[in-house]
Amino acid sequence: MLAHDAVQRNLQTLAARGVEFVDPGEGYLACGWIGKGRLAEPPEIVSAALRMLAPADSPLRGRRVLVTAGPTYEDIDPVRYIGNRSSGRMGFALAAEARRRGARVTLVAGPTRLEPPAVDEVVRVRSAADMHAAVLAAADSVDVVIMAAAVADYAPADPAAQKVAKQAGPLMLTLERTPDILGELGQARVRRASGGPILVGFAAETADLIPRAREKRIRKGLDLIVANDVSRDDAGFDVGTNAVTLIGEGRQRDVPVQSKERVASIVLDEVEDLMRTPAAAPTRV
Ligand code: PMT
Repeated sequence: MLAHDAVQRNLQTLAARGVEFVDPGEGYLACGWIGKGRLAEPPEIVSAALRMLAPADSPLRGRRVLVTAGPTYEDIDPVRYIGNRSSGRMGFALAAEARRRGARVTLVAGPTRLEPPAVDEVVRVRSAADMHAAVLAAADSVDVVIMAAAVADYAPADPAAQKVAKQAGPLMLTLERTPDILGELGQARVRRASGGPILVGFAAETADLIPRAREKRIRKGLDLIVANDVSRDDAGFDVGTNAVTLIGEGRQRDVPVQSKERVASIVLDEVEDLMRTPAAAPTRV
């Protein structure tokens, strides 16, 4: 008991000096019991270490950030789906950079071949409906939401339970709208009128980039939109580089082609600016 008290006192002294402890994990223990006492998972330990090394003046330090990445797959039948070319790279770079700046990061990722970065929590989803549920479950407790995922706008209305057999002539598929996840978050913020998370969206366009991105930002009630010309070979889907224009309330910034990691860093600089000057965030639509 005395030894326990001494350990507790030492831990409190160390915590007061800024030492952060990673709690033990739960699960099977070496002694054969199940419970709390395992070595914490490596991503958790890495996250804690990075949080401590994060720039002391970053407003993201200790804040909660939700990032989405990758495509969604909308099933037609058990073997076919409607998807898109998103690799997840852009969203992964944003999640890794937010973590490097000391944020606690939840990453909601669609199906990708790339491994997601080690962040505090990775939630794997498949469809737009799954992503909708995962984002809404987490959005209330976060300070920033960044949606880089390429979410399907339409999904088969009635996916077949068995593989659809080939037939003579064309095949008609009825598609229905998926929920607009960011739009719902923007609307929820209007209703709450007490702020809510900073909302950042992307606009993937092949024509009329800036006017369409501006319109999307207002319609969805976003603080910032990242306009992405996805018709270029060196930007957008499934390449290591990107070139974007950041559009906020009364501000616009061109970001020339560079690695997605560098683009992520510039996007997060803008997010930090928004966090430092909340009054500059747009009046919600
Ligand atoms: O993954 P990579 O290969 O690195 O490619 C990166 C990228 C091209 C996918 C990324 O940079 C990008 O542009 N992501 C957004 C793609 C997209 O779906 O854009 P959109 O203009 O269709 O959607 C506008 C915004 O609303 C997006 O933030 C999207 O996540 C969100 N959305 C879309 C549909 C929907 N049902 N709900 C949503 O919340």
